[in-house]
Amino acid sequence: SLGAYDSYMSKEIDEQPAVLRRILKHYFPDQQLKINNQLLQQIAASDRIYIVAAGTSWHAGLVGKQLFEDLTDIPVEVQLASEFGYHLPKLSAKPFFIFLSQSGETADSRQVLVELKKLHKLTLTITNVENSTLAREADYSLALKAGPEIAVASTKAYIAQIAVEAILAKAVGENLHLTTAQSFDVQQQLSLAASAIQTLIDKKDLIEQLAATYFDNQESAFFIGRGNGYYLALEASLKLKEVSYVHSEGFAAGELKHGTIALIEQDTPVIGFVVEEKTAELTRGNIQEAASRGANTLIISTEKLQQKQDQLVIADLDEHILPIAAIVPAQLLAYYVAKKRGNNVDQPRNLAKSVTVE
Ligand code: F6R
Repeated sequence: SLGAYDSYMSKEIDEQPAVLRRILKHYFPDQQLKINNQLLQQIAASDRIYIVAAGTSWHAGLVGKQLFEDLTDIPVEVQLASEFGYHLPKLSAKPFFIFLSQSGETADSRQVLVELKKLHKLTLTITNVENSTLAREADYSLALKAGPEIAVASTKAYIAQIAVEAILAKAVGENLHLTTAQSFDVQQQLSLAASAIQTLIDKKDLIEQLAATYFDNQESAFFIGRGNGYYLALEASLKLKEVSYVHSEGFAAGELKHGTIALIEQDTPVIGFVVEEKTAELTRGNIQEAASRGANTLIISTEKLQQKQDQLVIADLDEHILPIAAIVPAQLLAYYVAKKRGNNVDQPRNLAKSVTVE
């Protein structure tokens, strides 16, 4: 039930620290990482991991790419289900396929799974619905443990997907005896992420104010970043448009100047994610380029990368895990803009919770 909340979206955003703790309990009973060993061996023996998903789950897959590549040394491709199935690229010799799906019922993803089964490929579904079609039809399945997600706009399932990807990547890397995986303390990082999210949730009022000032009269916005900051920009933009109906685009910060910057007008909101050390200065430069064309810029950064003009600062976390916390201000921003406009945040127009047509 909703309790004191006005919407499931708001409730589910607030549940996120508890979701991370539940995932840790599930995957680390007695503090020992527990995942089916045959699954780990088969991923470890693969020469390429393909992550297949749609929408927000695809965005979680994009964040997963760096995690898997850095912790397992296996190359990763992240594919849109609706494109992949009908345009199968030349596959590697020993591919392993991971389906990310909150509902486990997305028709685009199911179509790919059916095609891959015909080719006798190995598949894993990571889903929030443990008896869903995709969970049943793949060779393996892992639970997201986010708890039922009722709001159409996905929030807690997105962070759960990144958390489970991180745990799985560590487990596969350890199976391969890789030191990067051995020294990656995923339990500690996910606990820290839970605290970082709680701190942001406790700053809700500030985000509500920012939503009111930045989106007072604006009908178009841009989210930019590099690396995981870019993937965060894609997800933040999707969240905003689906619940607030404000037109918005997520962009690689360096690409803005190659055309899209023409759309920046006086007071256009440009939200920049400065969350990656090696590209922080470049990203700030791109945010500045937008500001000098009149954009009203809002910067989300981290304690380590923080400058005094930044409006929202996330506690420091391993850069692979940081997106779990850094998405939260954007979820809240979308929620408050939608609420201010009187929208039905849980059931936005034209959308359904699970998309069962291709
Ligand atoms: C956005 C959203 C959608 C879903 C997409 C995939 O907030 O909810 O983009 O992420 O339809 O759905 P699942 O994860 O159920 O396969």
